[in-house]
Amino acid sequence: MIKTNLNFTNLNVKELSTLYQKKVTDINNELEANAKNEDGWLGWINFPFAYEEDIIFQDSWKRMKALALKLQKEIQVLVVVGIGGSYLGARAAIDMIQGLFNSTAPVKIIYMGNTMSSTYVRQVLSYLKDKEFAINVISKSGTTTEPAIAFRLLKELLVKQKQNKTVVNSRIIATTDKTRGVLHDLAIEEEYESFIIPDNIGGRYSVLTPVGIFPMMVAGINCEEIIAGAQLAAKACKSDKIDINQAYLYAVTRYHLYKTNNKAVEILVSYELQMQMFCEWWKQLFGESEGKDGKGLLPTSVIFSTDLHSMGQFIQEGSKMFFETVIKVKRPNEDINIPIDKKNNDQLNYLTKYSLHDINNIALQGTIEAHSDEIVGKTPNILLEWDTMDSKMFGYASYFFMKACAVSAKLLGVDPFNQPGVEVYKKKMFTLLGKK
Ligand code: PA5
Repeated sequence: MIKTNLNFTNLNVKELSTLYQKKVTDINNELEANAKNEDGWLGWINFPFAYEEDIIFQDSWKRMKALALKLQKEIQVLVVVGIGGSYLGARAAIDMIQGLFNSTAPVKIIYMGNTMSSTYVRQVLSYLKDKEFAINVISKSGTTTEPAIAFRLLKELLVKQKQNKTVVNSRIIATTDKTRGVLHDLAIEEEYESFIIPDNIGGRYSVLTPVGIFPMMVAGINCEEIIAGAQLAAKACKSDKIDINQAYLYAVTRYHLYKTNNKAVEILVSYELQMQMFCEWWKQLFGESEGKDGKGLLPTSVIFSTDLHSMGQFIQEGSKMFFETVIKVKRPNEDINIPIDKKNNDQLNYLTKYSLHDINNIALQGTIEAHSDEIVGKTPNILLEWDTMDSKMFGYASYFFMKACAVSAKLLGVDPFNQPGVEVYKKKMFTLLGKK
């Protein structure tokens, strides 16, 4: 479902295999050998099969499904309260699969707890005032400040609105650790319906766990297909061979461009506005996994052709510290033809033989050629060819990038699963706030 095409990079699979196959085989052996460990952070490797094979997650799936169907009848809005890995995956999936102006989704999903902007928070609260809503509060640690503040405010609104503890508590769903944390304890005390985040899966690798799946189910997404796609990817990305495993080919190519060609920045390019949040999810995955010990590629993103009118100039002619990774979608979720206009005053009739998606893909082709041109562009372009933007594709793509990311970070020699740097700002902030 994803093909890594190196035609616009000046690199080839054979050359990369000669340089990196041994290293990649060692990394793959290490990942596969430890994938079943309860300790550590590799639970995501086999997780796509957990809903069929693990009794706890079989039960989670049934409960999530039943509750999603019940909520779809009762509420207009689900507020997903979480930050970083606890909300980006669901948002990426819902936007990508349903698009930005979907009118058929049974429930609108909105997000809080991902910011401390008072204006944003006030506006969300006033938007919810006269709506039937539920809260899915998601935090593995259960102590993160942004979602904790948001949850307190939302709960206050729900209590005011419903005036009945049983109804209020039936509208709160907690997704958190199995045994620990403030949110876990609160969920037990208040008898909130709750779903588990496995111990051995970190936030940014958790999109296929109930963290991502429950909001997707409430949004009306076919999650069986999400998991089917992830299972396909888990099989396709198991081989250690760079010439077979397209995720590893992508990982090695970006590592090589960083190491050998001084390309310290990777720009992820999509030609679909509904992929903006997917790019945000990808940025968090690679940024938090790789950026440590003074190493790592800076992950950034653009949406073309939109950003060709803002960043296009820089990418074509500015300083050359970056390469591009371009996502090309073969089949769009929707397409439209350009109508013929008899008068042709806008001189667009020459486009009527194409659909809008054809034109978008021709723009992609022209832009890749311009950017990777050896004289006027000098920017290697890795092309990732995707079949679609549907549920199966999301499951596949999310798994593909998680596997690629783990291998990329290991090639750099950093731990893909910790984020010690995130604590530094927290310490400073808590000192300033006078937290004991
Ligand atoms: O990837 C990560 O681990 C982080 O981005 C976390 O998901 C984020 O900090 C939120 O943490 P928590 O789920 O504990 O509230």
